[in-house]
Amino acid sequence: MEIVVSGIRPTGNLHLGNYFGAVKNFLRLQDEYKCFFFIADWHSLTTHPHPGDVTVNVRKILAEYLACGIDPEKAAIYVQSDVKEILELYLFLNMNAYLGELQRVTSFKEKARKQPENVNAGLLTYPTLMAADIIIHKAHKVPVGKDQEQNMEMARKFARRFNTIYGVDFFPEPASYHFTGEAVKVPGLDGSGKMGKSEGNAIYLVDDADTIRKKVMKAVTDSGPTEPNSVKPEAIENLFTMLKIVSSPDTYDYFNEKYNHCEIRYGDLKKQLAEDIIRFTAPIRERILEISADVDYMDKVAARGAEKARESASNTIREVRKIIGFK
Ligand code: ADP
Ligand code: TRP
Repeated sequence: MEIVVSGIRPTGNLHLGNYFGAVKNFLRLQDEYKCFFFIADWHSLTTHPHPGDVTVNVRKILAEYLACGIDPEKAAIYVQSDVKEILELYLFLNMNAYLGELQRVTSFKEKARKQPENVNAGLLTYPTLMAADIIIHKAHKVPVGKDQEQNMEMARKFARRFNTIYGVDFFPEPASYHFTGEAVKVPGLDGSGKMGKSEGNAIYLVDDADTIRKKVMKAVTDSGPTEPNSVKPEAIENLFTMLKIVSSPDTYDYFNEKYNHCEIRYGDLKKQLAEDIIRFTAPIRERILEISADVDYMDKVAARGAEKARESASNTIREVRKIIGFK
């Protein structure tokens, strides 16, 4: 059976970008494949050396995973740092990863620019740790958003390289998975770029209705088109992309038509968009609050997930040691 692996760093709450870029696909995959969904707490140390109360952050994502519908009966849900086998594979992969290729990774260069005082080796080897997360379960499919393409290319490269160096056909090449066939990028509503925690423009699944209304009403717009059927500037395109993601096709068409006839009223569009987001997030928010209150349940889920993940990981690492030549 094909194997699926994916993870999210516990550096804040889940937002619409995480949901539509990644988690929605977790839900589609868990019925059909053997799935491993984890919380990448080691990865968060590359940018957050003092992750505050790690346990609190980890439980936050855990509650949100469960509230979104990830089912611990179907998938292994676990915390990365509970599976130490990943570290051993990370070490092996690092021995065959080259400084030049790691330095060329765009997200490394970006983060190095963002935190020049802390260009740590973990940041540099982020892609080898991510590759270890994935190939420790010999995964075939990895549901992630568009921003992870380069990390995925690196993971495939490290898997292939291991096979080549040791003359084996051991690790499958993991492919990014997008249900629609195309990677999703959920835009921010601040004019340009993607929605993200570190971008400070995120709408969180746990946000209440008023917070969501405020965030959406603040979205960047312009004075409106003056020519019929004009090309939309990025900020406006982003609003329409959000409509496409959370509203009905009719709603999208309605506002698109208005835009094309230069009759668009952004205030109306934003009001509708906010209500459609709330309709989607409100039930999830309710479940998040419910599940968060049941710490025992969450701890049980994580313990069981870790057990399943360790079983799979220890099988792989035993083989890897043998292949490399350790007795
Ligand atoms: P953030 O960018 O908010 O720090 P992460 O880097 O932890 O979020 O991303 C976790 C998952 O969510 C990854 O699979 C990533 O591709 C996806 N993701 C994050 N932001 C977006 C977005 N705006 N659009 C699509 N997918 C996203
Ligand atoms: N790099 C991913 C992100 O920033 C998180 C992650 C770590 C991941 N290890 C992974 C995703 C393995 C998929 C598979 O979002």
